[in-house]
Amino acid sequence: MHSVNSSSVSFSALGRRAEPPTIARLMSMALEQEKLLSLAVGFTDNRTLPVIGVEAAVEALARQSGEPEYLQYGTNQGRPGLRQLLTERLLLAEPKLKANAVAESLMITNGSQQALYLAIQVLCDPGDIVLVDRPSYFVFLEMLTGLGVQARSIPVNAAGRIDGEALRQSLVEMETNGETKRLKAVYFVSYFSNPSARSLAESEKNTVAQVLTERGLIIPVLEDAAYRDLYFRQPQAARSVLGLPAWETFPKFYLSTLTKSFATGLKIGYGFCSDKAWLKKMLHVKGHHDFGTANFNQAIFEHVLAGGGFGAQLARIRPTYEAKMRWLHGVLEAEGLSALGWRWAEPTGGLYLWLEAPLALDTSMDSAFCHACIREGVLYVPGDLCFGDVAPKNFVRLSFGVLSESDLVEAGRRFVTVAKRFG
Ligand SMILES: Cc1ncc(COP(=O)(O)O)c(C=O)c1O
Repeated sequence: MHSVNSSSVSFSALGRRAEPPTIARLMSMALEQEKLLSLAVGFTDNRTLPVIGVEAAVEALARQSGEPEYLQYGTNQGRPGLRQLLTERLLLAEPKLKANAVAESLMITNGSQQALYLAIQVLCDPGDIVLVDRPSYFVFLEMLTGLGVQARSIPVNAAGRIDGEALRQSLVEMETNGETKRLKAVYFVSYFSNPSARSLAESEKNTVAQVLTERGLIIPVLEDAAYRDLYFRQPQAARSVLGLPAWETFPKFYLSTLTKSFATGLKIGYGFCSDKAWLKKMLHVKGHHDFGTANFNQAIFEHVLAGGGFGAQLARIRPTYEAKMRWLHGVLEAEGLSALGWRWAEPTGGLYLWLEAPLALDTSMDSAFCHACIREGVLYVPGDLCFGDVAPKNFVRLSFGVLSESDLVEAGRRFVTVAKRFG
């Protein structure tokens, strides 16, 4: 048996940089250790997955006359019918897009994770810099590290809102250091964010656009709207970069996913790109990756979307996630976590609670607190993973997506038990 360390294979720079992704580690820990309750992974609720809708779609496809094209390779960009339906859906949320929104601008990807990878792969070389929200999606941040790309946080104020003046100052510093020529893109998760559950106000998005414009930095923007459909009661009113005049002149890639909002197992994501050349490059690289997202999965979702089943599924899961959030939030409150000095806001959508522990408490990956939680049988995502640069060590992301109500309550209790020991 050879371990990786004893391998005689000579790896590329990319291969040498590749570290085990934390998400894969957390996912396998959750699946392997039976008694461990995972508040870490962003899995969805098994009991509300759309089994009936998927069964009906498969049956309808199988009964359809003509050739079973859905079991054949599809196209690199994705099924035209699905792209058309997704574009129409996008237009409902972004009416301003109307004039130039066409299905040709949309690509279907193997999850939105692939869309993120493609976008960065064609924009950045090792040593380049991407501006990211603070906190940000940690899998994206690890991907940047894997590609040798640096993340710089968009500064926020004490309330966690984007601070335009501080952003201006940090861009001026970057100019002085000769770094702005390596600044290649800006990325944010704008609706019920992973990890913070916060949504960006239009004014915050506009501030970023205005400051970049002022500094002459018309760089590509990636808006990750993975959780936009997962509001509990009200959609977030803020328009995306696709509809905001402040972003008019920027190349824009708006991406989202049907994994969280429909079925994680189908792994379908998509991106709408305003810039033809950028889209073309991403499609070329997608051709190298896989020359097309699984056609059958797309056909299933296309059938569901065409028949109105997606809206019905969303209507079904929104109250489920709201109730689950309340179970977890409720047990943390009831067991006395806030009395220990922990702070968090009650989310209005998404899958996560973002907790701030007292400043002196280290909750990072290899902290005594993290190990104590694992021994107690509860897993979380250490918040320090979610920062592009200097990371505070007193944040925790809890996901309420996958566990049942009773397990959420038990996991919450275990978590507070440990917090009391360290309190
Ligand atoms: C903010 C964000 N973007 C993108 C993704 C990627 O999701 P998928 O590849 O399943 O579409 C996730 C998954 O957790 C996410 O939280």
